[in-house]
Amino acid sequence: MAFPEAFLEELAARNDIIDVVSGYVSLTKRSGSNQFGLCPFHSEKTPSFSVSSDKQMYYCFGCSKGGGVINFIMEIEGLHFPDAVHFLARRAGMQVPDEGRDDEAVRRRERILRANREAARFFHGMLGEPAGNPAIDYINARGISGEMVKAFGIGAAPDTWSALTDHLAKKGFAADELVTAGLARRSGKTGGIYDAFRGRLVFPIIDVRGNVLGFSGRILGDGEPKYLNTPDTPVFHKSRNLFGIHLAKKSRAGYFLLAEGNIDVVALHQAGFDSAVAPLGTAFTADQARLMHRYKQEVIIAFDADDAGQRAAGKAIDTLEKTGIAVRVLRMAGANDPDEFIKKRGKDAFHNLIEQRETHMEYRLLSLRQGYDFDRDQDRLNYLKEAEGLLAGLNSDVELEVYGRRVAEEAGVSLEALKTGVKKRRTQAKKQSRRKVEQEGTRPSRAMQPGSRELRYTNAYSAMAEQGVLRLLLRDPALYREELELEPEDFSSPFLGRAYGVIRERIRAGKENTPATLSPLFNQEEMGQITRLFTQPENLTDAGRAITDYIAKIQTEKLKQNPEDNLQDIYANYRKTKGVEQDG
Ligand code: CTP
Ligand code: MN
Repeated sequence: MAFPEAFLEELAARNDIIDVVSGYVSLTKRSGSNQFGLCPFHSEKTPSFSVSSDKQMYYCFGCSKGGGVINFIMEIEGLHFPDAVHFLARRAGMQVPDEGRDDEAVRRRERILRANREAARFFHGMLGEPAGNPAIDYINARGISGEMVKAFGIGAAPDTWSALTDHLAKKGFAADELVTAGLARRSGKTGGIYDAFRGRLVFPIIDVRGNVLGFSGRILGDGEPKYLNTPDTPVFHKSRNLFGIHLAKKSRAGYFLLAEGNIDVVALHQAGFDSAVAPLGTAFTADQARLMHRYKQEVIIAFDADDAGQRAAGKAIDTLEKTGIAVRVLRMAGANDPDEFIKKRGKDAFHNLIEQRETHMEYRLLSLRQGYDFDRDQDRLNYLKEAEGLLAGLNSDVELEVYGRRVAEEAGVSLEALKTGVKKRRTQAKKQSRRKVEQEGTRPSRAMQPGSRELRYTNAYSAMAEQGVLRLLLRDPALYREELELEPEDFSSPFLGRAYGVIRERIRAGKENTPATLSPLFNQEEMGQITRLFTQPENLTDAGRAITDYIAKIQTEKLKQNPEDNLQDIYANYRKTKGVEQDG
């Protein structure tokens, strides 16, 4: 089903790309009409994701993803084209013409979100009912304030089999919908459904835009499993979300606090540390790291002090480091987790802890140190070897000086000796990476190559000119003249040839070539390539000349590539122009 172009244009006009993107990416830098932020589609340390308000396009110079507002929503929400259109229509309060087939997935998502919202209300309301008493007792025992109960929308799942499902059935939700939402489970024996959360303290998991994606249910007291989370559903993926992010993203603190448990998060917010979040019972993931990096430049890890917590912290550090966010670590003496620490020592003490947060290097060196017995020479040597490896990863000599001194003193060697070891490692690492660069450098056209195989250019010289033609035609359709005599088959790149065919057809028909109108015609990767053409500078002062130059280049390259074909073409042309009769 095709959406009318006028509708797509209107849709794009009413969903300004800067507004839409800002809902997901914090745009921090500006240059002209472009704004930059950290790309939500790949890990990076410096912003290469650009959004242009003029052109209503985004393009990432790092990963080559790009397109208009519809492509952005497809990519970030994981939706197909029609679903993304419906998504944006809803956002702008527009009616989608010709309401056809494929909004099924979007509608299902909407239903799940609605069921979740209804469930959250139900759980929260239970706190005022007798069925919620055990939860209230637990809340009081853990010292959670009424204010926090409200802010997080905490609730109680009654210890019965169908309280929630009955309630939602009355509200018109079908059994299947509740199972898909993870709110109910289907019994293998009877085929009926029952409540997934029972007898637990329930925390809604809310995304940055305020949608209730799912729930974490904590057992009231001790027992296994401690937490029960919504399984992955069409709207919820554990590994991509963080508990508390909807509140923490608004915090004025320059950092996120990353705790292990939901209770820790609540306790931290209650004590005024309102940028606390927690992963949802999975190992901390790169997606979660990127989600954080969209909003803040620093993460302070406050995991439990036990072995499991420390191991998890070590892994989280690696993952966070890769996104380029600054990582610090808290060492809580005399308490196992932030909740306990604040209860025992108070918020001022926790504040001091934050002030004294360790850099991840300090933390790593200390953790490393704990594994060795310095009275034994072999242990000391092994420690030094590992420490050298860590220190070699430091970018600045000042830091090397600071941490190196500590290590040297502890292990009883001279700073000079240690530094020599570290530098040797650095040289080795550099050599390795130079070798890699050199290997890549032997393929000169690599930089301009699209990522996927299908789109690779076999003739880089021609492809450059082909891109030039497209760039000019996209900027100024008036440059197109039939006399240019350029056909899609003349292109060395099938993709660029096809793009040319589409764009030419549209120019001939007097249609605009905008991201919104082009996006139904190309896939996401192709749109990235087309968007890139818009980002490249092109001098339009002598554009008429430029386009004929490009075309000449394409024709010569084609001739080189395939001399025989071209001789036939030239002959055919000759006959046409001379009025020689065609055969047959
Ligand atoms: N966890 C989980 N699902 C969540 C949150 C946490 O499975 N939504 C898991 C974590 O992976 C970790 C443990 O629960 O293994 C951490 O919980 P903990 O800090 O002990 O939880 P709290 O809620 O803070 O409870 P307590 O007061 O007992 O510390
Ligand atoms: Mn805890």
